[in-house]
Amino acid sequence: MEVSQVKGKFDLAKRLGIRHPIFLAPMAGEAAKPGFVAAVSDAGGLGNLGAGYMAPEALRTAIDEIRKLTKAPFGINLFAPLSPVVQDLEQIAQYGRALEPIHRELALGEPSLPGHLAEDFDTQFDVVLAARVPVFSYTFGPIGKDRVAALKEGGTFVVGTATNVAEGLALQDEGVDAVIAQGAEAGGHRGTFMGSFAEGLMGTMALVPALVDALRIPVIAAGGIADRRGVRAAMALGASGVTVGTAFLSTRESPLGEAYKAALLAPTAERVTRVTSAISGRPARGLVNTLMTTLEQVDAGAPPYPLANAMTRALRKSAGGQGRADYLSLWAGQAVPLNRSWAVSDLMEELAKGLA
Ligand SMILES: Cc1cc2nc3c(=O)[nH]c(=O)nc-3n(C[C@H](O)[C@H](O)[C@H](O)COP(=O)(O)O)c2cc1C
Repeated sequence: MEVSQVKGKFDLAKRLGIRHPIFLAPMAGEAAKPGFVAAVSDAGGLGNLGAGYMAPEALRTAIDEIRKLTKAPFGINLFAPLSPVVQDLEQIAQYGRALEPIHRELALGEPSLPGHLAEDFDTQFDVVLAARVPVFSYTFGPIGKDRVAALKEGGTFVVGTATNVAEGLALQDEGVDAVIAQGAEAGGHRGTFMGSFAEGLMGTMALVPALVDALRIPVIAAGGIADRRGVRAAMALGASGVTVGTAFLSTRESPLGEAYKAALLAPTAERVTRVTSAISGRPARGLVNTLMTTLEQVDAGAPPYPLANAMTRALRKSAGGQGRADYLSLWAGQAVPLNRSWAVSDLMEELAKGLA
């Protein structure tokens, strides 16, 4: 098949009322700020807010703020509800002991497992549903046909995240309008929810055409796309759009602290990433640093997400405040050597050249 026939299978830009089918990846945590999301939407892409860690009230306020900042469409992203995890007390204690020296170094109290582990999905979801946002995306699992249908009735375009073909088919069955193909190159947490995480490490190059062939809905490529070359490649593979995370993190409008940005812009040979479960209890790709290598040495491994994530929350927050990149979770994808310090509009212009 000619590339030109594959390309533009679905006109996502037209469907969503945006200039370019280029999404700012939803990125929960420090990067989840309305101004950043609005800057990407204003530049002609689709800004997405990673609201997974936001309390419902904060999420409502953030949505209002995005709407004040831009007239352009935007998206909200949540983590699908997780199955309850078993708390292995010995594992938690071992992990806690590994955190002690880091807590001491950062002048924090004793590490502990906080009472509040994660936000309640249903309450977050109700906020999103009531706000009738233009686009909603989710990761880590299915959310159920009823929820997808309710969102669509409210006029929301619904997007699920797949890391293998089985997940893509399950999301299509659930009724989503499009699927994000999250390749192994992607920064941040793996979305895998069917099969093992190792099996879900398909590269973007293999995953995108496999999903395009298996599905009858648009596929949006994510993972390792950072400039016009990546966009062109993804579109040639049959994607109808792209999601870009890491490359946006070092833009001027990115709300990340200086230490994180400096790590993203270190000499390119030092921008090395790997997938680890050691920091949050769930596989995620990030720049290798002291926090990662220290916690990977815990014999019992990290307690499953969201336990480990909650246990490292205090130290990660403190490291951010103290400008300590060695103790941050520096989530970033394999294309991080391509990161530059420039404006969102400059990066958008560069990416859009790959669509031509
Ligand atoms: C800092 C960071 C946080 C992320 N948080 C989320 C999230 O909250 N929800 C989500 O669906 N994906 C999240 N991701 C994954 C992105 O949506 C996307 O798959 C990835 O950034 C694409 O690969 P790239 O980083 O190589 O561009 C995150 C990625 C990063 C780098």
